[in-house]
Amino acid sequence: MQRLTNKRILLGITGGIAAYKTAELVRALVTNGADVRVVMTDGAKEFITPLTLQALSGNPVHHSLLDPEAEAGMGHIELAKWADFILIAPASANFIARLTSGMGNDLLTTLCLASIAPLAIAPAMNQAMWADASTQHNLQTLQDLKPIQIWGPDQGQQACGDVGPGRMLEPTELARRLSEQFERNILSGKTITITAGPTREAIDPVRYISNHSSGKMGFALAKAAQEAGAKVNLVAGPVHIPTPERVHRTNIESAQDMLDTVLTLLPQTDIFIGAAAVADYRPADVCDQKIKKNQDEMQIRLVKNPDIIATVAAQDNPPFCVGFAAETQDVISYAKGKLEKKKLNMVIANDVSSQHIGFNTDDNAIIIIDHESTTEYGQASKYVLSQKIIEHIAKKLS
Ligand code: C5P
Repeated sequence: MQRLTNKRILLGITGGIAAYKTAELVRALVTNGADVRVVMTDGAKEFITPLTLQALSGNPVHHSLLDPEAEAGMGHIELAKWADFILIAPASANFIARLTSGMGNDLLTTLCLASIAPLAIAPAMNQAMWADASTQHNLQTLQDLKPIQIWGPDQGQQACGDVGPGRMLEPTELARRLSEQFERNILSGKTITITAGPTREAIDPVRYISNHSSGKMGFALAKAAQEAGAKVNLVAGPVHIPTPERVHRTNIESAQDMLDTVLTLLPQTDIFIGAAAVADYRPADVCDQKIKKNQDEMQIRLVKNPDIIATVAAQDNPPFCVGFAAETQDVISYAKGKLEKKKLNMVIANDVSSQHIGFNTDDNAIIIIDHESTTEYGQASKYVLSQKIIEHIAKKLS
């Protein structure tokens, strides 16, 4: 399972023979879906080249604190804020000493000082250096000072010929422990496509038919899905909401645009949520020129739009499909009808007869209906309800 999908791992490499094993570690993390940025000390570069790690991580390797060119790219403070987790592997006795005393005399120690991301170190050194009172004192001080995880070291044969504690944990074990840190990522490895907001159906170049959908529910779902570890595509109609972090957004106008975009995303989609208020009809003919108001009456002939979610659910091998049912009466029975008719896996029903919740508001109250159960959630923010919906989907997929 790709538990590290979308996760930003900052891997610090310090000087020690175990540094050569970080090539394998970077590979394991990338295979697990992580976005990896490598930071090397000068000592680390004596054991493995930055080029190797750049090729494996797919990102430039950072090593200098005072490099104007690097600072113009992703500066050290930006890098410190970017990380979801910092792992230092191997962590040398020298690095541990500098970290303990709060020094910021190179890029890696500065990043550790500047970041609030959780930190783990995987010590690796000669067994006598490990056993030395100063090293042990530093490790104890470090743990007293701040939350830090110390992974390893292992026992065994050392590169220098000694036998004892001081070997870096194997890359696969480090990757496993990192994945464990993100166990709450219930949608890791999944790609989810969400439609949101209204669509606009053109009458002429300046006029259109649309609705009051704010897109808030779809955007809240995108945020909750991203936080649950999924890769998120958001196909949004015209709304004025900022894109949640790390969500891939495509802006569309009409229902047909929305369908075309969704269909191109479908081969990579595991879960589809139709939260958009798609216009049911569109003008049969769109005038090339602005229509003049020279008649007392006019008629616009409308034709039916494609049903996007029903089209998705009717594909061979469809994703797990979740639709919405906004109703003003008999909410549950209409929603169940939609579940069957559109061949969906789940329907989120809400009563839109109240002005305070549902359409175009920050709150909602929902009923989650699937083929086995019906679960009701009273009024709450769309974000909190989105987390509940994501939990239900994850449970159904597990
Ligand atoms: O049929 P109704 O519009 O009530 O169904 C609502 C559900 O269907 C929502 O999930 C909505 O996003 C989706 N839908 C769609 N394409 C349409 C109409 C609705 O995907 N043309």
